[in-house]
Amino acid sequence: MSFENLLASAENGIGTITINRPAKLNALNRATINELNDAITAFDADTDVKVIIITGSGEKAFVAGADIAEFANFTEEEGEKLAALGQTLLFDFIENLGTPVIAAVNGFALGGGLELAMACHFRIASDNAKMGLPEVSLGVIPGYGGTQRLPQLIGKGRAMEMIMTAGMIPAEDAKAWGLVNHVVSQAELLDFTKTIAEKIAKNSPVAISKAITAVNAGFVKEGYNEEIRGFGQAFGTEDFKEGTTAFIEKRKPVFPGR
Ligand code: COA
Repeated sequence: MSFENLLASAENGIGTITINRPAKLNALNRATINELNDAITAFDADTDVKVIIITGSGEKAFVAGADIAEFANFTEEEGEKLAALGQTLLFDFIENLGTPVIAAVNGFALGGGLELAMACHFRIASDNAKMGLPEVSLGVIPGYGGTQRLPQLIGKGRAMEMIMTAGMIPAEDAKAWGLVNHVVSQAELLDFTKTIAEKIAKNSPVAISKAITAVNAGFVKEGYNEEIRGFGQAFGTEDFKEGTTAFIEKRKPVFPGR
């Protein structure tokens, strides 16, 4: 498989997808989201592939978020569509995939990057990784499932603090809070993740797929639509214009607020 923004290869029953826009810290633009859907669909259809690993290229970032430059001028309607389409093509798609998907978080996992890692069935991080949902610092809210999956993984109070402060937590805190299952050095990350993938690959793919469906069925779904609505509404605010303009102009935002 050949892509503009990804590397994808399969070996020993494990398909590895590397998001490959290191100059933009692997930020998720529309093309990358579409290519991820294509690569995951192809691996899921290949019965030789038992487990999929998603990671980022370079030493700095897993994914530093949705591509802010791409959506800074969007209207409310376009914002809402962006969130809804992204959730369908990538985030819900991964969460409900029958083939297990592991995120190997090799650096910054921010905004859409952390949301991508959280949509995967579980996460392993390198010790330099930093995780956060910085959206409110841009005048918007997480739009790819972050308001739902973060509290599921770390609890409501911690999720509220992370979302409201827009702060980042280091890998060790992420492990202590249950956001990632293991922390290893960056050099060991892919081999360690593959060792776990190999254990999974020995088990029944049919049973694993049913287990994924059963685990997911235990979680309430209503909040995702509320998130999409709130994300879209943010695009009509002065705070959003200021937040995204400040990011692009590399300065701190001054929010007009309510
Ligand atoms: N969208 C678009 N471009 C992004 C991006 C994003 N989410 N994150 C990083 N980039 C780009 C930067 O604009 C920069 O591009 P340039 O070299 O053409 O100016 C490049 O990636 C490198 O990022 P830079 O900010 O220079 O690196 P840094 O080491 O100083 O800071 C971060 C790293 C992750 C702290 C910083 O890039 C950041 O805050 N990114 C945005 C995180 C965010 O808010 N994500 C949520 C989006 S909803």
